[in-house]
Amino acid sequence: MALQWSDDYKLGIKVIDNDHEGLFEAVNSLQGHVEAGATEHSILEDLDFFARYVREHFDREELILKQYEYPNFHEHMLQHRNIRRSVFAIRKLYADDPQVIDAEKMTGFFSGWLRNHILKDDMAYLPFIGVNFGRRKSDNPSKKPSKRERQVNETQEDLDDLVPVTLNVPREARDVIGRCAAILRLGSIDAEELRQFVVPLYGMTSEEMVRYAGIVMKKEKKDEPQSN
Ligand SMILES: [Fe+2]
Ligand SMILES: [Fe+2]
Repeated sequence: MALQWSDDYKLGIKVIDNDHEGLFEAVNSLQGHVEAGATEHSILEDLDFFARYVREHFDREELILKQYEYPNFHEHMLQHRNIRRSVFAIRKLYADDPQVIDAEKMTGFFSGWLRNHILKDDMAYLPFIGVNFGRRKSDNPSKKPSKRERQVNETQEDLDDLVPVTLNVPREARDVIGRCAAILRLGSIDAEELRQFVVPLYGMTSEEMVRYAGIVMKKEKKDEPQSN
């Protein structure tokens, strides 16, 4: 059944609502093509469009959440990262061999995720952003602790988890590696951004792709190891 856009999904933040409605349309287009038995090429085009739209929407949404210092920003970003990896893995596996993907499961998975994420996870940030949206951050009377303040708190909590690492790296890279280690040691949003940069989606191993896309893969292909 196609996704039906309605006021129930509206957050009242125009740029976000436009994106969400666009994502509904993207999933519906994909589902329509799957149900009509369209060519693999056109399904792949839909998947490309959806993957790009998801990425752009997450970037826009995360920018707003960061601006308004949403307290659960980190958790929300991790949810985005997981689904982005799943979308990427599904798209890549489909591009390599459409037969390994169960297309109906795939559209059901995207529809379910989209509805759920908007109604549950995106709606959860509304009280922190909705009433203030459009104001400059400095006008926000309920200002949360600054990033620096949060970093200082998190540093103490993270100290127990530190482990020494010895690496041979090019001499000129030593300073950069040291700075990266300092950011990772502090934790917080900067560390997550660094991880996202250093471990790009394109670096996913085939095992990781199966892990992220497994839910929509055809069982026999997923379970039987390749014999070549
Ligand atoms: Fe979100
Ligand atoms: Fe969203």
